[in-house]
Order: sequence, then structure tokens, then C-alpha cells
Amino acid sequence: MLKNKTVVLGITGGIAAYKAVDIASKLTQAGANVRVVMTKSALEFITPLTFESITGNTVVTDMFQPNAEHRINHVALSEVADVIVIAPATANIIAKLACGIADDMLTCTVLATRAPVIVSPSMHTNMYENSITQENIAKLKKRGFKMIEPQAGRLASGGYGVGRLPDTETIIGAIRQTLGKNGDLKGKKVVVTAGGTQEAIDPVRYLGNRSSGKMGYAVAEAARDRGAEVTLITAPTALVAPAGIELIKVQSAKEMKNAVAKASAKADALIMAAAVADYTPKAAAKQKIKKGAGGLTLDLVKTPDIISEVKGKFLKIGFAAETENLLANAKKKLTGKGMDMIVANDVSAEGSGFGTDTNKVTILLKNGRQESLPLMSKREVAEKILDKMGKMMEGKM
Ligand code: CTP
Repeated sequence: MLKNKTVVLGITGGIAAYKAVDIASKLTQAGANVRVVMTKSALEFITPLTFESITGNTVVTDMFQPNAEHRINHVALSEVADVIVIAPATANIIAKLACGIADDMLTCTVLATRAPVIVSPSMHTNMYENSITQENIAKLKKRGFKMIEPQAGRLASGGYGVGRLPDTETIIGAIRQTLGKNGDLKGKKVVVTAGGTQEAIDPVRYLGNRSSGKMGYAVAEAARDRGAEVTLITAPTALVAPAGIELIKVQSAKEMKNAVAKASAKADALIMAAAVADYTPKAAAKQKIKKGAGGLTLDLVKTPDIISEVKGKFLKIGFAAETENLLANAKKKLTGKGMDMIVANDVSAEGSGFGTDTNKVTILLKNGRQESLPLMSKREVAEKILDKMGKMMEGKM
């Protein structure tokens, strides 16, 4: 995805410029050719040497650099860019871009490019909320620029408000989505569930499971990066909300069922990676249950089986997390729950299952075919699932 792609990273003069170091580093690690362009003000916050060391490329700071090694045609980068990202983007650069001003290397590059441009505003809340800035942002959006919403939180000025640069994953997620927007799942609507549901016992306790949500999030991100429109219905997890994905937060199996029924009405596929509780307390206690002298018995009732019960024309893809009789159990679930595909994994195997970044799975299809995959990252597993899903959608499987 990012491998061998040229990402022009524009850095402007905001305190969040230091965070661009991490963005440049992660992009480079992912295989991208990162070409950094810094404005004059950005140089007040951080030095080009940092970015040159990280990216292995010369940093461009000036249109008229006399040094021959640094001399570069003012539109050269606009032509080689697969995508341009400005992070952080100040109110000043946003205003210049909105007006078509081209008075430095970064503005020239953006004005001359035909590549997609992503802008991540970061500034003091009052500057961000000023109607001039908002009008400029609206103008850029209308012209096809992709804007990343700044986050709320503590600002460098000391106060709290909107204006923080989002974390690196969010910015890189937006880049991946932009680069993959014409991928093989373009135009497809995919609903993914993730995480372990929580069934309330009382206001402070719940029944849960060990799912981290990593597999479901990896599937959702991979589908996004292949051009799909993704809705992620997630039980509570510690993971960062992925950029460019509609996120619906739920807690219980019942809430997840309602969200899935609604979201899948127009979907092409439902991928149930969530670990859904099979039982829930008959009624959650209104007040905290106090410790008594004896033991405690919970009265549990069955939850709805979401993938079995939700009806529609979309493909149904499920998971089977097992500790024994992996394939036999998975096959039973595949047919019993009316799925088109099931991803079976032995959660007791090393490097596989809950909380890990890797998984070792066997994919079983409705037509009886199956493929056992070696241990690989959850993202790679996600890509394999989507390869098969894509073929099924084309009727080739
Ligand atoms: N699933 C579901 N609704 C439930 C339980 C499970 O939609 N109430 C889905 C899961 O998201 C998964 C698949 O069904 O895609 C299999 O989940 P699993 O928990 O392995 O299946 P169970 O039917 O609960 O079987 P077990 O007795 O092994 O727990």
C-alpha cells in the first residue's frame, strides 16, 4: 500500500511540527519514499536534519536554494507525488491554499499537483473556529482536498479546545485510505464488528471476554484501504478509532445486534469478528451488588445469535475461535449459521488469538474449499479474507 509510494509531507510552522517526525518515520518504515517540504516558519520549530536522517531524502525548504544538491525545480515534487500531506497545517497555509497563493515551495507544489492533497489543520482553537478559517476549509473541501479534523484536548497555549494534531495512526490511516480509494473494493459497503461484548451485571460489573478487537480493526482498515465504505461496530477496546471509517460504539450483544441490523441493510458484506457473549444476566441489578455471606449465583439468559438472525443479501463472514476440534467446530458454525465464509483460529496456539498482533487461521468456504494459512500479522490475515470476499462478490468463488 505505502510501499514505493512517494508521499510529499508538507510541514508548516506550528508547535505540532515535532509530531511530523513520527509521521515521517512511520511512513518511511512502511516503505514509502517520503519527501519533506518545510515552510520558513516550520524551520523555527524543527530542523531539516531530523527529517533528512529519518527519510534518507534531502529536505526542501526554499525555492531558491543556491546549493546545487538542493536545487530543485519548483514543480518537480508536485509531479512525483502519489499523495501530498500537510501536517501540521496552520491557518496561514490553509488561507494561502484557499486563495491559490504560491509564494514558497510548499504552496507551489500543492498548486501544481494533480495528486490528492490531505490537510491536517492544527492551531489555537480561536484561530480554528474563526469564520475565515472555517470558510477557507470549506473552500478546500469543495475543491477536493481531504481535511482531517483536529482533535480536542490540551493545547500548547495551556487551555483546552479543538486544534490538536491527531495521532500518527489517524494521519497515516487517511493517507492509506486516499492511496487505496480506487482499490478492488471500491463502491462496496462492508460492515465489520470487533471486540468483546460486555454484559452488565450491575452498574460497575460486567461479563466479558478476552477479545482485544485487533482482528476486527485490521479487517476494517484493510477494507477501507481497498476502497470500501466501512462501518465498524465495536464493543469497548483500547484501540484508536481508525480514520475514514464510520465507528459505532456498542456494549452488549443486544446493542450490537441492533447496530448490525441497521448498518447491514445496505451492505454488500458483514464480517463478524466480534466475540459476542452467548449469555447475559437476565436483568442487570440497578444498584451495585453488595458482598454477602455466601456465594453469588447469576441467572443468565441466551443472547441473540447475530450472524444467524440478521437477514439480507450480503455475504456473511464469521470467525470461530476454538481451543479444540478447530475445523469440525468451524464447519458446523459455517453451515449452522448460514455463513459464506468462516475464519477458524485456534486461540490456544502460540502467536494466535486474543490480544496478539498475529494469527494462524484456516479459511473455510461455503463451497467446501478451505485454505490453511501460516502464522502472519492480523493485517495480512485481513487481506487474505478480503481477497476471497472480493472474488465471491465477483462470483468467481
Ligand atoms: N456470533 C454472533 N452472535 C452471537 C455469538 C457469536 O453473531 N451471539 C458470531 C461471532 O461473531 C462469530 C461466529 O458467530 O463470527 C462464531 O462465534 P463463536 O463465539 O465461536 O460461536 P458460538 O456460536 O458462540 O459457539 P461457541 O459455543 O463455540 O461459543
